[in-house]
Amino acid sequence: MAAPLRQVEGFFVSQSINLNYLASLKKFSDQVGGHGELLSMDEEDSIIVKPCNGIERDFYENSIAHPGFARWMPKYYGTLRLHDSQPPLLDQQLDVNNNIISCDIKPQTTKENIVTHNTDVNDAEEAICIENVLGKFKKPCVMDLKLGTQLWGEDADERKRQKLILKAEKTTSSSMGIRITACRVYRKSSNNYTYYSRDYCRNLTPNTIMKCFADFFMAEISLSQRQLVINRFIEDLTSFSEALENQDVRLHGTSILFVYEGDPNAFTEALNKEEETQDDQKSNKLTSDEDYVEDEDVEDTDYDSDIDEDDDVEFKVTELKIIDFAHSYFRDGVGKDEGCLLGVNNAIRCLKQVLNEMTN
Ligand SMILES: Nc1ncnc2c1ncn2[C@@H]1O[C@H](COP(=O)(O)OP(=O)(O)OP(=O)(O)O)[C@@H](O)[C@H]1O
Ligand SMILES: [Mg+2]
Repeated sequence: MAAPLRQVEGFFVSQSINLNYLASLKKFSDQVGGHGELLSMDEEDSIIVKPCNGIERDFYENSIAHPGFARWMPKYYGTLRLHDSQPPLLDQQLDVNNNIISCDIKPQTTKENIVTHNTDVNDAEEAICIENVLGKFKKPCVMDLKLGTQLWGEDADERKRQKLILKAEKTTSSSMGIRITACRVYRKSSNNYTYYSRDYCRNLTPNTIMKCFADFFMAEISLSQRQLVINRFIEDLTSFSEALENQDVRLHGTSILFVYEGDPNAFTEALNKEEETQDDQKSNKLTSDEDYVEDEDVEDTDYDSDIDEDDDVEFKVTELKIIDFAHSYFRDGVGKDEGCLLGVNNAIRCLKQVLNEMTN
């Protein structure tokens, strides 16, 4: 649904959020973790609407200045400002590429339509509009892995801080820098998802967490598909940890969202498509390199580099994004987030172990 970039009067217009979609706001039915209720809009559910506090909105807007980190975040389409009995206004409309988003504002939605059950943002006046990370999957298997050893942000009062310190100590957060908050796995044979609930996951220990990691990869896809999924996640985590090494940031209560295709046929189709696209790109590159040699005086404008290739992809086999920035911030001078780096390294170690056990 995301339109390709077009240049209009000096601005790049990447996406027109048709706010008539607001009329179709509904509960986001593929939510796995979290204590608040998210919403989705438009027929394809490609945009998630998350009632939020100003901290999360600021994090998305500030991410524009940190592209090495922002590439791991869902695309950001703007913020809905909610005003009692007035139509919401789409706030400053920026996305991570610093593009202006156009919109037609004629919504009939009032605050009641975006009521949140999230206690942190009960009086939420705002909601961020972000990419649905599951949007390019047919049967997405999803894991929400909370990162970091410190779960409380500087916005927490003393009571909340103590509660979250205790929670980190009682779970794997404080020792491993990760905690599986919830996950679900698709089973083709029963055409159903198996859920690993928040209550089940909260009781995992450093000894039992491995079993849950292994279970997460038990969708009824082939062994080689499973191995490919895990290898991709390891590669992604390795590159994300490089981004984290170079980032002045604090991520508290933030999660890694792991997503992979759980339907074996959809998996094969998506992978074939991916290979075809790569072949096309290779041959296009060869052709354009040849043209370049023939036509050396033509200036290389490199238009394509601004176009988000993801928008052209119909289906994916894996996706890894970082979500939930309600207590996180970028700040010069704070240095890297050691608790999160510990978590990412432990996640890589766990995935390598699952892969090893799968092959032996
Ligand atoms: N961009 C996204 N695409 C797809 N699913 C998402 C996205 N963002 C969130 N979700 C789903 O919603 C769940 C909750 O999201 P999130 O963690 O942002 O909410 P929260 O209420 O702030 O959570 P918490 O209880 O950790 O504070 C995630 O576990 C995931 O299943
Ligand atoms: Mg969360």
